[in-house]
Amino acid sequence: MSDDELLDLAVRTARAAGAELLSRYGRPAGVETKSTDTDLVSDADRAAEALIVAALSAARPDDGLFGEEGAARPSTSGLTWIIDPLDGTVNYLYQLANFAVSIACADADGSRVGVVYDPVSQETFTAIRGGGSYLCTASGTRRLTASTGVPISRAMVATGFGYDATVRARQGALIGALLPRVRDIRRIGSAALDICAVAAGRVDAYVEEGIHPWDMAAGSLVCTEAGALFTEVALPGCGPTYLAAAPDLHAALDEMVRELATGSFADQAPLPAGQ
Ligand code: IPD
Repeated sequence: MSDDELLDLAVRTARAAGAELLSRYGRPAGVETKSTDTDLVSDADRAAEALIVAALSAARPDDGLFGEEGAARPSTSGLTWIIDPLDGTVNYLYQLANFAVSIACADADGSRVGVVYDPVSQETFTAIRGGGSYLCTASGTRRLTASTGVPISRAMVATGFGYDATVRARQGALIGALLPRVRDIRRIGSAALDICAVAAGRVDAYVEEGIHPWDMAAGSLVCTEAGALFTEVALPGCGPTYLAAAPDLHAALDEMVRELATGSFADQAPLPAGQ
């Protein structure tokens, strides 16, 4: 299959999974906890993952599968599908609109194609490695370009928080130190949509500790194909932290979060207004 055909399969499957999620929206069932009391899974997550696994298995029986809700099959083709059937489960269960289906197909060099589909807005973010990234909506398809030339003091930064209380406290401290130094912070509730928002120039940057492969496999390709950098940063005392932004802002933010995490200026006063 060509990359175009792999992407087409991913897009059709993500949209079908999105329809499954919408058919269950507002009627939460089978809600259980996972890693902590705040980490939730529901029948909707499970049904969407089952649908995706069935569709991909029928079309690509030799490919590997790796899904948030447990899908796991080794690859004999060299390709593996990385699946988040419902990124933004907590939003979904609270009937907040920001959630998405994320599907990527990866080879030994990383994600080759990726799709992030938002069933409520019906926006489809896609990317093919080396082929750019696109946003498809009811009014058409446009190529994505991350914002450039944004100084850190004017940057809109998306972030998120994990489900472990200790990690959340650390994330809050970093974001609290960052907040007076940027334009503002957004906590949208879906890492996949956060990262695609960088690609679309809807936010200027994204930073979050501890996200998982299924959260980022598709979005990171959408982001890098839109001209942004998506990197893992090792911060002292933190788990792997992920940073997305156009190269100029990425460099500034990378330096700032490293300094904040070491506490070298976490206690200093915020920048003066207008800086
Ligand atoms: C979560 C969301 C959230 C992010 C968390 C993720 P889930 O994924 O993407 O925005 O802050 O780190 O775990 O649990 O909704 O699939």
